[in-house]
Amino acid sequence: MKEVQDHWFRLAKERGYRARSAFKLLELQERHKLIHRGDRILDAGAAPGSWTQVAADIVGQRGRVEAVDFKLIDPRGLPPHVGLHQADLRTISSETLGGHLFNAIISDMAPDTSGVPMADAAISCRLCNELLDRCRALLRPSGNLLMKVFEGADYPELLRRTTGLFNKAGACKPKASRAESVEMFIWAKGFRGVNDADVADAPHIRPPPGAGWSSSSR
Ligand SMILES: C[S@@+](CC[C@H](N)C(=O)[O-])C[C@H]1O[C@@H](n2cnc3c(N)ncnc32)[C@H](O)[C@@H]1O
Repeated sequence: MKEVQDHWFRLAKERGYRARSAFKLLELQERHKLIHRGDRILDAGAAPGSWTQVAADIVGQRGRVEAVDFKLIDPRGLPPHVGLHQADLRTISSETLGGHLFNAIISDMAPDTSGVPMADAAISCRLCNELLDRCRALLRPSGNLLMKVFEGADYPELLRRTTGLFNKAGACKPKASRAESVEMFIWAKGFRGVNDADVADAPHIRPPPGAGWSSSSR
């Protein structure tokens, strides 16, 4: 197991990525094509910045990546089309982020772990729900979302909620994710530009159970 971890760590160093997490985003992007050239991307929970590096490469100079984290992100080596914000994603204003809606939001946000898995999973799920609450204000209709979550009791409802707000959603665990980790990645494509109340008022826009879901084996 340690050898597998060392492999990703070594590879990240070799390729100049700030963290091994870069390979999770690269794999998820390869599978689901969530980010495109020229896109405006919101990178939530971005420090130290390996997802920012990957996203900045994909969008190119005509795109833009706004990276937000509580922690300071070192600007050295990042290209000019990256904006850095030391802030709480739950409260940062969309004006601070440029005032435009994003083509995609990618979130690797994780709470500081307490060592109590059930409690950590509940906090992680709440964070994801808070991100979903902000999609109307931040994400373009038809935009895409990728978010990390610690799998726990609230996870199925989070996946259901995401599926209601997007045309297609699913969850998977990339190879670079530690096998023993409870982290999962929910991906969703085609934001409907609606909120939960709209979905509840018009159940026909919610897909039948299971539709559009795909879950890869771990
Ligand atoms: C696993 S790290 C992200 C790694 C990053 N994606 C990379 O590839 O370098 C999780 C980050 O989420 C941040 N975070 C957690 N909650 C947040 C919030 N509400 N607003 C902003 N950042 C948050 C933490 O400070 C932490 O740096």
